[in-house]
Amino acid sequence: MSDQAASSEVKPPHDENGGYMQAAPSPRRWPANVGVKEVGPRDGLQNEAVFIPTADKIEWINQLSETGLSYIEITSFVKPKWIPALADAFEVVNGIRRVPGVTYAALVPNRKGLERALEAEIDETAVFMSASETHNRQNINKTISDTFPVLREVVEESLAAGKSVRGYVSTVFGCPYEGPVHVEGVLRVAESLFEMGIHELSLGDTIGVANPKQVQDVLGVLLKRFPADRLAMHFHDTRGTAMANVLASLEMGITSFDGSLGGLGGCPYAPGASGNLATDDLLYMLDGMGIQSGIDRDKLLTAVRYIQSKIGRTLPSHNLQAAGPV
Ligand code: HMG
Ligand code: MG
Repeated sequence: MSDQAASSEVKPPHDENGGYMQAAPSPRRWPANVGVKEVGPRDGLQNEAVFIPTADKIEWINQLSETGLSYIEITSFVKPKWIPALADAFEVVNGIRRVPGVTYAALVPNRKGLERALEAEIDETAVFMSASETHNRQNINKTISDTFPVLREVVEESLAAGKSVRGYVSTVFGCPYEGPVHVEGVLRVAESLFEMGIHELSLGDTIGVANPKQVQDVLGVLLKRFPADRLAMHFHDTRGTAMANVLASLEMGITSFDGSLGGLGGCPYAPGASGNLATDDLLYMLDGMGIQSGIDRDKLLTAVRYIQSKIGRTLPSHNLQAAGPV
């Protein structure tokens, strides 16, 4: 190599002993801690054609309870005819071993669902609706306007019974029936749900169409109205953009993320909606970035292998495939 060529090489800086020095740290853009909410037993299993026996669901949730997760959405008190995979909601809630410090939540669509959830003594209820009219109608058989009073009743009665309420807004980044969704529609639903009394709103990319720029654009609008610690992100990985969308959200100050172990999941009323962001993939990235979640990845791996064996097909999680067979 000529002297001229050598002198044009970019060399890392050396310390006085000739060793390479660490590159200067980049500006801090990420939070030190995040909360991860596991929705696999609900969002993951609701879409499965095979009915997972109640005892297996209970065993899986018990394993999840030992991983350090502080929040697990364990089932759904929707109409069993619509979601037969979770028809055993009451038995599941009553069969699990509750670990102190873990919040066990369930999806509730209306008063009838709330009655069932309260009878089962769930810790927290989660209400849900869509930002787009057609998905809302397909999913819960009502217009957006007609959904508000139904959910208001659920939120108020849930709070009166001492149960906190989380909210979901679906189709934030796109609707399977209508295509693009205007952020005004998301704001309208968000305003109403917060006004009813939910403590956190999870923004759902129901069909996995979002990209990082869109995520930051939408969050840019919502964060002018709501603090970052009241918003959570719920990504589906249908087109492989979920992890990039997490990073984009972290950069906007979001510290609450939903995941589904193994990448299980989807919405039966959103054609083409494949699995959620895999909780175990999310944890791999967060751990590597030094972002604390309090979750033990080895225990998570045991739990994801367990549910994969019960589902009977290879789950989409990259982490699981990289870990190989036991
Ligand atoms: P409907 O048929 O319009 O209900 O369903 P209705 O009020 O007209 O009642 C009809 C019958 O259903 C009555 O019985 C009710 O008692 C019964 P009948 O008098 O005829 O014998 N019923 C119920 N039974 C048990 N539990 C209940 C219940 N409610 C009514 N809760 C309803 C309306 C909302 C209930 C129905 O459309 C439904 O259950 N939809 C759920 C759909 C669903 O679970 N979708 C997936 C979850 S959302 C999602 O995945 C997105 C998310 O992950 C975020 C994201 O990714 O974006 C959250
Ligand atoms: Mg979902």
